[in-house]
Amino acid sequence: MVTALDNALLAEVLQQVRPLIGSGKVADYIPALAEVPADRLGIAVCTVDGALYQAGDAAERFSIQSISKVLSLTLALTRYQESEIWQRVGKEPSGLPFNSLLQLEMEQGKPRNPFINPGALVVCDMLQTRLSAPKQRMLEVVRQLAGEDDLAYDARVARSEFEHSDRNAAIAYLMKSFGNFENDVLTVLHTYFHYCALRMSSIELARSFVYLANNGRDLQGNAVISPLQARQINALMMTSGMYDGAGEFAYRVGMPGKSGVGGGIVAIVPDEMAIVVWSPELDASGNSLAGTAALELLSQRIGRSIF
Ligand code: DON
Repeated sequence: MVTALDNALLAEVLQQVRPLIGSGKVADYIPALAEVPADRLGIAVCTVDGALYQAGDAAERFSIQSISKVLSLTLALTRYQESEIWQRVGKEPSGLPFNSLLQLEMEQGKPRNPFINPGALVVCDMLQTRLSAPKQRMLEVVRQLAGEDDLAYDARVARSEFEHSDRNAAIAYLMKSFGNFENDVLTVLHTYFHYCALRMSSIELARSFVYLANNGRDLQGNAVISPLQARQINALMMTSGMYDGAGEFAYRVGMPGKSGVGGGIVAIVPDEMAIVVWSPELDASGNSLAGTAALELLSQRIGRSIF
């Protein structure tokens, strides 16, 4: 039976998935992330009309990590011709972990898609070329999208990532060796780690990502990108937003989604709503374990999926 969306339903969903906490693993390859309490659990939904529903720790800020890869691609689409972007990064699922180097070497330094680390690093490289202050610009974008003036980077998380950046640096240098990287690697890594270290709550993320449910328009009605571009980003999220867990997520949740190792997941119901869940423990693909279960349950209870 389909249930109406309200705060009580979201609380019920969280209650049902809470027992899963303990079966995943908080990301510890970035020491500052490993300190986040594993029992945090939040969910927020923002509809295209601006109605907001929430439960649990929905107002608590966390590190959005790879969810920022959608925002950097969005920003690149406002600064580049699409052909310029897609000649440097592909649109295919990788089927490999988000930080893998294997495919990148075999495919001459062209990343499979913009949501694995190599793809996001190329997109950051492009932003570094065209924006005079890429970190500041991203803050302006998210503050506008979320309607919150005090959104900021977590300097500790950014620094912690920089101190453990060997693999991302290797990825960037490999792409540079193939001629697919324009700027100084350390400068781009600095920008990339700050984007990952953005701190936002589930509520702020749900408000921010409404543009992908609303044909490219944000909550204030401003056109962030075109309706076609919003559709295209949703398609990429569907096929690549959850890395090597994309097929499993499509099967269980049936919505375009993007995860981050901070434990957040953004999922989109086109023309209706943006949904954000947060639970720091991850599954083997680096996606929130209880968060995925919450989205699976919610999609069934409200009868929503793009299939
Ligand atoms: O590049 C990294 O390792 C992280 N800052 C971002 C990775 C991430 O969130 C992947 N997501 N599931």
